[in-house]
Amino acid sequence: MIDAESIIRELEREIASVSEQEKLLKIKSKYIGKGGIVTNLISRIKEIPPDQRKEYGRKVNLIKEKVEELITKKQEEIRREEERRRLEREWEDITVPVEPLVGHIHPLTRTLDRIIDIFRSMGFRVKEGPEIELEKYNFDMLNIPPDHPARDMQDTFYVNKEGYLLRTHTSPVQIRVMLEEKPPIYMVAPGKVYRRDDDPTHSPMFHQVEGLAVSEDVNFGNMKFVIEEFLKTFFEENVPVRFRVSYFPFTEPSAEVDIGCVICEGKGCRVCKETGWLEVMGCGMVHPAVLENCGIDSQRYQGFAFGMGVERLCMLYYGIDNIKLFYENDLRFLRQF
Ligand code: PHE
Repeated sequence: MIDAESIIRELEREIASVSEQEKLLKIKSKYIGKGGIVTNLISRIKEIPPDQRKEYGRKVNLIKEKVEELITKKQEEIRREEERRRLEREWEDITVPVEPLVGHIHPLTRTLDRIIDIFRSMGFRVKEGPEIELEKYNFDMLNIPPDHPARDMQDTFYVNKEGYLLRTHTSPVQIRVMLEEKPPIYMVAPGKVYRRDDDPTHSPMFHQVEGLAVSEDVNFGNMKFVIEEFLKTFFEENVPVRFRVSYFPFTEPSAEVDIGCVICEGKGCRVCKETGWLEVMGCGMVHPAVLENCGIDSQRYQGFAFGMGVERLCMLYYGIDNIKLFYENDLRFLRQF
């Protein structure tokens, strides 16, 4: 009748060398698919004489079951083998020691921290103010009249709200603190400021540190001492310092502070534009009108204030010649600090 054994043996022989699911599926359909060997046997049952049908059907069923069993077993085998090969390929030794990834403090952060540490050690407290500032605090109350060039659209970023702008300096923090606190006041205010400026030494966003001291007896001499002490500590050497008469609407008298060029040591170079001196901050005695604007009796109290650019100090300290390097996050640059 049917040679069940030789069908099974043939199937076993065929699948023995198979290692891919696809080939196995082809074999599967050759046996139990449409028009397959076993399928044909099943459909031939009508041709079998009735008295033999039962026996025939039983046998064919056994073959079909056996075929399915062999195929399923092989499928599982292939799946396991594929899994084994995948694990072999993806295997990683997680115990191998790697180069440790060391983080760096950004040179600007490092410089800000150093500046603040120095002033803290002299008794100044740290204050902060908002970067989106009232025009009133950034200009008016600092005695900067409406037609002053600093208000020009060229320099200031205005925001979409009447009376507000991106602060162009940290001086409005002076106003905020004087409105809030009674003298004596000794504070420094670090933070971001914004100006429409863009070249190798100017960026539209940069950092300043503001300083303010208000008491009954501070004078220009005290200010000079504080600034000289700061610069010598910051540059870790006895740098020459000079005060040059200048003008700011919110200080009177006002001065610009220069240090002897740290690059050429005063001989004259590209960085100091052959002058031997570098400008590092503005300062002066707080204008009496500014004190009065904040409700401080200018007959009784005096103040001094200063403001410095952090990028500039950082560039001079480390010898960096392009301000853009601070904001590009180039690892080759950052790794040096
Ligand atoms: N705010 C001034 C500037 O940005 C600097 C300054 C601060 C000058 C305090 C005098 C006193 O240029």
